[in-house]
Amino acid sequence: MLRTENITSFYGEIQALNGLTLEARKGEITCLLGPNGAGKTTTMFTIAGILKSRTGSIFLEDEELTRESAQTIVRKGIALVPENRLIFPQMSVEENLNAGAFTRSSNDPSIENDIFKMYQRFPPLEGRRNQLAGTLSGGEQQMLAIARALMAKPKILLMDEPSLGLAPLVVKEIFSIIRQLNEEGVTILLVEQNARMALKVANMVYLLEKGKVSFSGSPEEIHQDEVIKRAYLGAEIK
Ligand SMILES: Nc1ncnc2c1ncn2[C@@H]1O[C@H](COP(=O)(O)OP(=O)(O)O)[C@@H](O)[C@H]1O
Ligand SMILES: [Mg+2]
Repeated sequence: MLRTENITSFYGEIQALNGLTLEARKGEITCLLGPNGAGKTTTMFTIAGILKSRTGSIFLEDEELTRESAQTIVRKGIALVPENRLIFPQMSVEENLNAGAFTRSSNDPSIENDIFKMYQRFPPLEGRRNQLAGTLSGGEQQMLAIARALMAKPKILLMDEPSLGLAPLVVKEIFSIIRQLNEEGVTILLVEQNARMALKVANMVYLLEKGKVSFSGSPEEIHQDEVIKRAYLGAEIK
């Protein structure tokens, strides 16, 4: 469904991706793991068109998106749930959801219905629809960030560390949302620092190091590889 081929991204002169090639297959959860600074967020930004790769290409279902604007990329079906759940804190929950539909025509009558569906999927958001998003709990903000991205009706959802800084029970809830979305057919590219949880939901895993893929395989293959397990995932994996 989504492929990057040999992408290299820079922040000014600082090279953050160094020939990164990966694929997220349709209907699957593909997970990116790796140490801080490995280039996980940069990969998400480059796919979303926020940063441009100097080389290589990005394809969504055989359509090349490498040089498209971030807005076009959302319209083509790629939505990002950014790291640190960058919702609009001074806007209400409902205004955030409306903002997620920015690539759709504002008089599209199905937007209201989709907001209703988001309240069904994320009940805590409904009672807080008029509350400022910045006053929500961390877990609720993450739900809102996911719901806002879903308002774009994406083919693939990019999620950057959705469990970061959340209490263990809330992390479980977020992972159950991820699994449920995937069961409903949403393809997911997930960046996680919680390797143990990620390996439970992933179909395919890429380990990133210094801006490129150092290993890829199924969760089973990672579990079978003692060296990989120890070097990249530490004691976290049982
Ligand atoms: N805004 C920025 N300006 C300069 N360098 C950056 C910026 N953001 C990230 N980097 C660098 O790019 C590399 C990859 O960062 P990032 O993609 O955020 O890693 P990860 O998400 O895996 O922790 C790191 O070396 C980081 O220091
Ligand atoms: Mg990051």
